[in-house]
Amino acid sequence: MDRRLVPAAKSARARAHAPYSKFKVGAAILADDGEIYSGCNVENAAYPNGVCAETSAISAMVLGGGKRIREIAVIGSGKELVTPCGGCRQRIAEFATADTPVHILGPKGPRARFTIGELLPESFGMKNLRQK
Ligand code: THU
Repeated sequence: MDRRLVPAAKSARARAHAPYSKFKVGAAILADDGEIYSGCNVENAAYPNGVCAETSAISAMVLGGGKRIREIAVIGSGKELVTPCGGCRQRIAEFATADTPVHILGPKGPRARFTIGELLPESFGMKNLRQK
């Protein structure tokens, strides 16, 4: 894993706006341009309008000029692994290939590594829209 990912995901998590769930999440992406893009969850009093950390990080990447995700790290707390939600798996897949690593971190460091293909098998994607 790129050595910048853990500190970037941790500092993003510290900026999370999660007054409702109190569940702070951070995410950091190593993009194809060699840059690190990070994001945190941003909740809203109108609950469904909140966004996940992974989605924030993807927006930062796109805005910053990154085109593809080389690897992504997600950090949250608790006994269970904080893996990306279904919607975020689909958003990650848009900018990744099946073998792109998804690192799951806890407060003490890396806990697990998956590929996006393992987390979202048989996914719908751009390939579906290109075929006639
Ligand atoms: N959340 C994320 O930001 N990423 C995940 O991978 C799981 C869940 C956020 C959404 C919401 O703000 C809070 O965590 C509780 O679900």
